[in-house]
Amino acid sequence: MGARRSGEPDRVKQEVAAHWNRRAPGFDADFGHSIRTPAERAAWDRILDLVVPARGKLDALDVGCGTGFLVFELAARGHRVTGVDFAPAMIAEARRKAADRALAVRLEEADAEQLPFAFDPSALTPPAGSARSSQEYAAVGDQLPFLGGRSREEIERLLTAHGLGSVCSDPLHDLVAAQAQRMVDEGLERRTHRRYVVWGDLASR
Ligand SMILES: C[S@@+](CC[C@H](N)C(=O)[O-])C[C@H]1O[C@@H](n2cnc3c(N)ncnc32)[C@H](O)[C@@H]1O
Repeated sequence: MGARRSGEPDRVKQEVAAHWNRRAPGFDADFGHSIRTPAERAAWDRILDLVVPARGKLDALDVGCGTGFLVFELAARGHRVTGVDFAPAMIAEARRKAADRALAVRLEEADAEQLPFAFDPSALTPPAGSARSSQEYAAVGDQLPFLGGRSREEIERLLTAHGLGSVCSDPLHDLVAAQAQRMVDEGLERRTHRRYVVWGDLASR
C-alpha cells in the first residue's frame, strides 16, 4: 500500500464506484450474493442470530449495501435499516428490490466517509468478476488498504483499537460449506472462499 497522494481519494472513489456500477446489473446473479439453497439459508440464519441477537428492533446502517442483501435480511427480521452506497446503479437496484418487496427501508446514494445524516453511535447497537482483478481496481489498488483481504485477527484488532467492546468473530464454516456445495450443484468450478464475520458492540464502550 502506498502513501495516499493528494487528489487521489476522489480518483480512487471514482474507480471503485465505476467498478460496482458496471457490475450492478448482474450482481445478484454472481455467486455469493444470494441465498439459493436450504444450507445457505440455515447458515445465514445462524450467522445473523449470532451477530444481531434478539434485543428488539435495532437501527441498522449497512455501509456499502450494494443491491441490499443485508439490508433486506435485517429488515425481514424487523429492524429499521438504512443502506448507503456510492454506486448509483447499486442503489437503484436496491431501491427496485425494496419496491418489489414493499419493504420500508431507507436507501441513500452516499459516500461512507460523508454520510448524509447525523450519525449518533450511542443510538446504535450494534474471479473474472472479482474486484481484485478488475481494470478499475488495477488503476487504484495501491490506494486500497483492504484489497486482497485481511485476517480475521487483524480485523478484530482494528475494531478493538477503534473502541468497540465485546469484539467477537466467527469463521462461517457452515456458509463456506453450503456455498461450496452449491457450486457443485450448479456445475461451477468449486472454489473455497475464506470468509468470516467480525462484530463488536458500541454500547459497551
Ligand atoms: C463487495 S460489494 C458488497 C455489497 C453488499 N454489502 C453485499 O454484501 O452484497 C461493495 C460495495 O461497497 C460500495 N462502496 C465501496 N466504497 C464505498 C464508499 N466509500 N462509500 C459507499 N459505498 C462504498 C461499493 O459501491 C459496492 O456496492
